[in-house]
Amino acid sequence: MSYNLLKGKKGIIFGALDDKSIAWKTALKCHEEGASLVLTNAPVALRMGEINKLASLVGAPVIPCDVTSNEDMLNLLTKSMEHFGGGVDFILHSIGMSVNMRKGKSYTEIDYGFNQKTLDISATSLHRLLATAYKLDAINEWGSVVALTYIAAQRVFPNYNEMADAKALLESITRSFGYYYGLNKHVRINTVSQSPVRTTAGSGVKGFDGFMNYAEKMSPLGNASSEACAAYCATLFSDLTRFVTMQNLFHDGGFSLTGVTEAVISQMEK
Ligand SMILES: NC(=O)c1ccc[n+]([C@@H]2O[C@H](COP(=O)([O-])OP(=O)(O)OC[C@H]3O[C@@H](n4cnc5c(N)ncnc54)[C@H](O)[C@@H]3O)[C@@H](O)[C@H]2O)c1
Repeated sequence: MSYNLLKGKKGIIFGALDDKSIAWKTALKCHEEGASLVLTNAPVALRMGEINKLASLVGAPVIPCDVTSNEDMLNLLTKSMEHFGGGVDFILHSIGMSVNMRKGKSYTEIDYGFNQKTLDISATSLHRLLATAYKLDAINEWGSVVALTYIAAQRVFPNYNEMADAKALLESITRSFGYYYGLNKHVRINTVSQSPVRTTAGSGVKGFDGFMNYAEKMSPLGNASSEACAAYCATLFSDLTRFVTMQNLFHDGGFSLTGVTEAVISQMEK
């Protein structure tokens, strides 16, 4: 069901890799709510070809951008503005990658070269995006930017490895840039801290299935699905949430504020 929440709005969606991606679901939801979109991903991800399916479903052009490249970022925002004939109203940053995790390195033994790459892709990229948009004046007044994060930024989840540090940095950039963008352009910037969902990035975390079941049992509402996350992002892009900025917003079925549940206690008694 559509509420036309984003009627007439223009947005850029980063990070739709395949139909499991949170960004993929969010693109579909924003389209359903009336938005016009530009889709983007790293050239290597585009070569897998899946994104073209999404592009035809939502009628959007696909512009490549490796988020670690200043040049790519500038090109993406410039081309998007040309495409829309002006600025955009919202942007989804749905990007994460841990090089150390991929290489099987544990947190206590990370390679710092890999770590720099991880932080650049997963966190500094938000700064690069916002700084480039700020210079180009690419986001319209009262625009909205959402980046996806995880509660490992606040609490320890051992297998989340260096991504915990990346998410902490991402949330800090959200607050710091949120100040300047709010003050000067009335643009709001928030992170959404999502429940675990089975995607390419999610499944890269060691012991993911057990961990997802645990989160399900620890959340009064159960784990939030990617479709529910997409719907929440659409509300944050809409005009109904204009004064929400610099926040880390938990979208996790209550997991973040639950100490323990009876379901988990009964497991421990076995
Ligand atoms: N899946 C989960 O359990 C979960 C939970 C909370 C938060 N998140 C966050 O949601 C976001 C989206 O992840 P997802 O779970 O949909 O997985 P996904 O694997 O579908 O998406 C990750 C995306 O990052 C992109 N990416 C990687 N390197 C890039 C680069 N250099 N330039 C541009 N794009 C690049 C990938 O191509 C991919 O599209 C991530 O920030 C992730 O940390 C995921």
